[in-house]
Amino acid sequence: MTTPTTGYVSAEYLQRMAVIAQTIKQANHKKMSIQRGGCVLDVGCGPGIDTLALAQWVGPTGKVIGIDTDANMLTIANDKAREQGSDGFVEHQQGSADSLPFSNDYFSSCHAERLLQVLPPTLAAPVVSELKRVTQPQGRVVLTDTDWGSFSINSTNTQLERTLVQFFAEQLRPNGYAGRQLFGLMHNNGFSNIDIEVHPLVHNTLKAVPLEWLYKEASKQQVASQEALEQWWQEVQQQSNEDRLFCTVNMIVVSGQA
Ligand SMILES: C[S@@+](CC[C@H](N)C(=O)[O-])C[C@H]1O[C@@H](n2cnc3c(N)ncnc32)[C@H](O)[C@@H]1O
Repeated sequence: MTTPTTGYVSAEYLQRMAVIAQTIKQANHKKMSIQRGGCVLDVGCGPGIDTLALAQWVGPTGKVIGIDTDANMLTIANDKAREQGSDGFVEHQQGSADSLPFSNDYFSSCHAERLLQVLPPTLAAPVVSELKRVTQPQGRVVLTDTDWGSFSINSTNTQLERTLVQFFAEQLRPNGYAGRQLFGLMHNNGFSNIDIEVHPLVHNTLKAVPLEWLYKEASKQQVASQEALEQWWQEVQQQSNEDRLFCTVNMIVVSGQA
């Protein structure tokens, strides 16, 4: 097995995922305990799905800042804020989660969804520490990530399926186990009143789960015999064609008081 990939996902994929995870996102915004006029941060904001929703919570007297390293995502997010008419109080800036360009206690509440899984595991603790630093005492920080170790794909070859899930979590995601690490990270960083939720997502279409990518990468990296991988991929495609594909994965939401 070779070096993990960058973890890059497109804005289109994130928009599709946002529809699937809509109820989790809405509940998370509520968990942030936002007051009208509040100043809130979304780290790893992508194309601005959460920042634009958070605009409704703070209103024009408040402030929403989204931070991301990807300039293309920021352009999409800023264009959408302009279209929504919230660009006066919603800003998207380039910056990195492990070195946030804000003073201590700058925000009343912070949020990050599926950020830690795209970062190397060594950055997880520094990022959570930064989120604590920039959040006012008593402010809520809400973190969501996927536990790719909980990924399951219905298949007759259960042994190969387990091998592929481990390969996906450990080689195709920079930190595929980020979801299960969130509680420990918040605990170690001194957050209080920590709340944990586990949300299973069910996927029935190949559009929602990157199984073709998994098949291709597993073949390239010879995770199993080509014959076994080919059979598995044929089976998955057949299930999908017959509308009986069944995959699940857990999203973990952990929130705490700074
Ligand atoms: C899986 S996407 C999630 C996007 C968004 N939170 C959502 O729920 O749609 C991860 C995002 O983190 C961004 N990212 C990667 N490394 C980062 C870093 N060091 N600091 C801030 N954002 C980063 C990526 O560019 C990408 O937009």
